[in-house]
Amino acid sequence: MLWQLPFLPVQASTFAGRVDTLFLFLVALTIVVSGGVAGLEFYFAVKYRRRTPDEVPPQVHGSMKLEVIWTVIPFIVAMGIFVWGASVYFTLYRAPKEALEIYVTGKQWMWRFQHPDGQREINELHVPVGRRVKLLMASEDVIHAFYVPAFRIKNDVVPGRYTTTWFEATKSGPFDLYCAEYCGTNHSGMIGKVHVMEPAEYQAWLSGGAVEGSLASRGEKLFQEQACITCHRADAQGRGPLLNGLFGSRVALQGGATVIADEAYIRESIVNPQAKIVAGFQPLMPTFQGRFTEERMLELIAYIKSLGAPPQAGTSGAGAQGAASGVATPRPSQTPK
Ligand code: CUA
Repeated sequence: MLWQLPFLPVQASTFAGRVDTLFLFLVALTIVVSGGVAGLEFYFAVKYRRRTPDEVPPQVHGSMKLEVIWTVIPFIVAMGIFVWGASVYFTLYRAPKEALEIYVTGKQWMWRFQHPDGQREINELHVPVGRRVKLLMASEDVIHAFYVPAFRIKNDVVPGRYTTTWFEATKSGPFDLYCAEYCGTNHSGMIGKVHVMEPAEYQAWLSGGAVEGSLASRGEKLFQEQACITCHRADAQGRGPLLNGLFGSRVALQGGATVIADEAYIRESIVNPQAKIVAGFQPLMPTFQGRFTEERMLELIAYIKSLGAPPQAGTSGAGAQGAASGVATPRPSQTPK
């Protein structure tokens, strides 16, 4: 490619080239400006040195033309860098919608990955080449940072909130993964590999190994274990909002505000239910903070994301009666989409 310099890591993602071009432009600009200033200083120091003891130079009292030139040119250059940098930044930080979603949790001192189909990995991540991959990241303890130099992605993983990043690998092979935020004694050991595979190879990898259900199905189990199902249901006993079709929708809150139901909103509603009360509901829900790990929280969110449109009136009634008897657990989620 364009920049095959020995001190740059291999370019293995779609935006590695753009990041490097911007970086090298900034380096070149810095060298040209600082080299130019230093060179002129030296040149003028020699050229205009005092030659006789009583020599007095002619006094200069400002020049509008000069002032305008050295204000306008740097302004244009700075704004150009700003627009260029912002455009690269937006590409990096706005994950595309149609992407393979992988759930990442950082924990002293390891990286855990969960695939939508249920595969779990520690310090190893397998992804297909040529496909957009979105990472939804959470931390179980302190701040970590997910850093894959070959992809030119680095993003903090912060306790108590979700961060996302994405990439599309252009080369297959193993690439180094680092934690780029000091997170305690074994920070330097919090490393791993991202294995980028050819699509066929990736499919083979996906089908190998035992998997205990998809991410969403593990989330569904948790949904029942934590008794979320006793309130979030379609019948008259449903004291909480029905969660079918919730993800990505616009939710009307008490007080008239609305919010888009994304991962962060759902997580907040689980750990701090009083923060945003859905219009028409009472603030009855207890907090689930600390009841399960972030990893399980992601399973729960995957489950809620998987819920399609609300079940038909008839089927939900039947399920609710089963629940009222206290024996069968209703599973409105299993309504086909
Ligand atoms: Cu995790 Cu440094």
